[in-house]
Amino acid sequence: MAKVHVVLNQKGGVGKSTVTVNLAAVCADVVGLTSEGQPPVVTVSIDPQGSAVWWSDRVEALPFHFVQAHDDIAGLSNLRLIPGVTDVWVDTPGWMPILSDRGEDPFGEGDAGRALRAVLDNADDVLVPIEPEPLSFEPTFNTIEHVLKRRKLPYLVVINNWDPRDGRADLEETQQFVRAHGWPLARTVVRHYKVHTRASAEGIVVTQYAKNRVAMEAREDFYRLALEFQQRTGADA
Ligand SMILES: Nc1ncnc2c1ncn2[C@@H]1O[C@H](COP(=O)(O)OP(=O)(O)O)[C@@H](O)[C@H]1O
Ligand SMILES: [Mg+2]
Repeated sequence: MAKVHVVLNQKGGVGKSTVTVNLAAVCADVVGLTSEGQPPVVTVSIDPQGSAVWWSDRVEALPFHFVQAHDDIAGLSNLRLIPGVTDVWVDTPGWMPILSDRGEDPFGEGDAGRALRAVLDNADDVLVPIEPEPLSFEPTFNTIEHVLKRRKLPYLVVINNWDPRDGRADLEETQQFVRAHGWPLARTVVRHYKVHTRASAEGIVVTQYAKNRVAMEAREDFYRLALEFQQRTGADA
C-alpha cells in the first residue's frame, strides 16, 4: 500500500504547491524507478485552480507521475491502492473557513470540501507549511486545531520561504508561535530562494535545477525536509 502525504494549510501562498512537488521530486530521486521503469511516486493536485499555475505544461518532464483530481472523489478515496506506487503527495487548495460548533470540518459541503475530506480520510501524515509572517498564523491555527487534531493525524509544521537577509526576528517569532501551541515543528527551515519562484513559473523541480552552489543549497532544504518528515511522522517506520 502507498503512503499518502497531504500538504495542508488553510492559507494560500504559503508554499503548499512548491513543497509538494519538490518533496515528491526528492522522494522519486532517492527511490529510483520500479522494475517497470516507472517512478513509484505520484503527486495529486486537488486544487481546481492548481493546474493553471502548476508545472502542468511540463508534466511529461517531471520525475514523478502527476494527476489533477479535484473532482474524482472515488479516486481520492483510494490513493493508497494505486498499483506500483509507494508514495502519494497531495497538493491542496486553501479554503474559506466555515465555522461550525458541531465538530465538523470547517470546509463545507462543496466540491473542494468533499475532495479535502476524501484525502484527509485516507491520509497517513500531513505537512503544514507556514510562512514566517504573522498573517499566516491564524489559518495555521485553524488547520491544526480544527482539522488535524480532530482527525488525530500525525503532522509536522515547516517554516517555508524564510529569507536569511531579513534577519532572524520573524523566523524566531514564528518558531515561538508554533512551539507555544505545542505543535511539532521541523528543524529544517525551507529558505527563500529566487530559483524556487522561477522554477514554479518554468515548470521545473529541485532535482532538475542547475548544478551551481545556490541551486544546491536550495535543493538541500528539500532533501533535509523529506528525511525529517519521514523520521518525525514515522509514516514509514
Ligand atoms: N521557499 C521559497 N522560495 C522562493 N519562492 C517560494 C518559496 N516557496 C514558495 N515560493 C513562491 O511563492 C508563491 C506561492 O507558493 P505556492 O507554492 O504556490 O503556495 P500555495 O500552493 O500554498 O498557494 C509561488 O510563486 C512560489 O514560487
Ligand atoms: Mg497551491
